[in-house]
Amino acid sequence: METQQPVEAHVETRHLEKRYGGVHALRDVNVQIHRGEVHALVGENGAGKSTLGKIIAGAVRHDGGTLVVNGKAAAYRAPMDAIRDGIAIIDQELAMLPDRAVIDNVFLGIERAHGGVLDNRSAREEFEELVASTGFELNPETLVGDLRLADQQKVEILRALARRADLIVMDEPSAALTPGEVRQLHGVIRSLKARGATVVLVSHFLEEVLAVSDRVTILRDGEHVRTAVTADETRESIIHSMLGRHLTEPPEIAAAPDTAPVVLEVTGLTRPGHFEDVSLTVRAGEIVGINGLVGAGRTEVCRAVFGADRYRSGEVRLNGERVRFRSPAEAIKANVAMLPENRKELGLLMHRSVKENLTLPHLDLFARAGVLWSGRERGEAEELVTRAGVKTASVDALVSTLSGGNQQKVVLAKWLAKEPRLLIVDEPTRGVDIGAKSAIYDILRELASRGIAILVVSSELDEVLELSHRVLVMARGRIVAEYDHHEANKDLLLTAAFWTPESERTAQEAAA
Ligand SMILES: Nc1ncnc2c1ncn2[C@@H]1O[C@H](COP(=O)(O)OP(=O)(O)OP(=O)(O)O)[C@@H](O)[C@H]1O
Ligand SMILES: [Mg+2]
Repeated sequence: METQQPVEAHVETRHLEKRYGGVHALRDVNVQIHRGEVHALVGENGAGKSTLGKIIAGAVRHDGGTLVVNGKAAAYRAPMDAIRDGIAIIDQELAMLPDRAVIDNVFLGIERAHGGVLDNRSAREEFEELVASTGFELNPETLVGDLRLADQQKVEILRALARRADLIVMDEPSAALTPGEVRQLHGVIRSLKARGATVVLVSHFLEEVLAVSDRVTILRDGEHVRTAVTADETRESIIHSMLGRHLTEPPEIAAAPDTAPVVLEVTGLTRPGHFEDVSLTVRAGEIVGINGLVGAGRTEVCRAVFGADRYRSGEVRLNGERVRFRSPAEAIKANVAMLPENRKELGLLMHRSVKENLTLPHLDLFARAGVLWSGRERGEAEELVTRAGVKTASVDALVSTLSGGNQQKVVLAKWLAKEPRLLIVDEPTRGVDIGAKSAIYDILRELASRGIAILVVSSELDEVLELSHRVLVMARGRIVAEYDHHEANKDLLLTAAFWTPESERTAQEAAA
């Protein structure tokens, strides 16, 4: 009688190597991904997590060692090859066709795999099944370009499921989701596991790693530090392995500068359907945080102040003077800077060098009688890279070759050169690792200490609490609460974030 030996490892890497020019992205990595487990990959920005995930999914080719899938050496040339082995990836930077419908994006490229027999009706049926099994609410006919980032990501997950993937690599899937959506995602991960699928989860959220993964692999500078059973780990034990050191405690927030001049004063700002009667002030040297759920209107308010979107009524004053920017260019001219939420869309020229990205928007700083003084530009770029802790081989490297978190640091570094009077930052540390986060916080504190007024939009409670002199909470397009940093805490912020007109009425009725 022949008994089939069960294949323990779904995927195994043996002495895996990957170099990008001078960068050794993976060195001698030996990892086993067991079938049916949720396997987390953690590490600092640039540690090699995405590279490993992409190699497993055929999106990047390794240049040494062996990738073993289902017990056989795999030589993927493209993601299509990995998909034939049931491996799909949901990428850190989503890649979809924005002007096609949700359903088209979900089934894109599958027609071929089915021999061209996938007609519209069965696609529609399969879509409904997928949506029902995940609990995602998505209209199949909506154009993907009109969806919020969080919903685009759901489309990617559906796409992987539609391909019958039994191993899904998820690269920072929860970075742009609301708490409710994150819970949904974790439900999906658990149901994938219940079906026997394997999930490789790249994440910077250690709470998430601890909550949903079975085992965790820690990478540092392209090296495999260790793989452990998650239940045996703590947040501290993982951080220690990631950084090779313990984190230092954040500094105490200095007292809010309540006598400093008001730099930004927003009164009654209204854009129907987006935000309503928003009033706020930010003083010189003050960091004001806006917390709330994704979609609460925080980004929209910032964009309106910055001239990227319009508003119907209300006013904006800058140092007491009434302004109404009709474009971001006008705002920048008035020395207002904004670090946008979506680095791909607004923040970076992906196919330009780090140096160009750092210096292009402020050419006036580096130009002399119309001639670019490239020596100064280079030196300045190098200093900014050092100050922001950007990990890059050189300032000449293309931004597209940087890891996700390091791209984010470039966006921030871009504004360090100019020292605006008002700096608006929207989710400044999304996708950034724990060590780099504190570096970015230090930069923001330093800018504030030099008198710059800073408005921070952040969904992360720890982040707003650690950074802000004052915290505002937005819900449903309104500012519903304001706290001084010493009175703010997680419970208060969360409760406020879930404010609805109904909950207010109930509270009033209870009080009456
Ligand atoms: N296409 C590329 N060309 C050149 N270098 C690259 C390329 N892709 C990645 N790298 C480099 O390889 C290293 C590992 O990058 P990777 O994207 O795997 O990091 P990561 O752990 O996913 O980081 P993050 O948390 O920031 O997403 C980094 O130094 C990065 O700059
Ligand atoms: Mg990455």
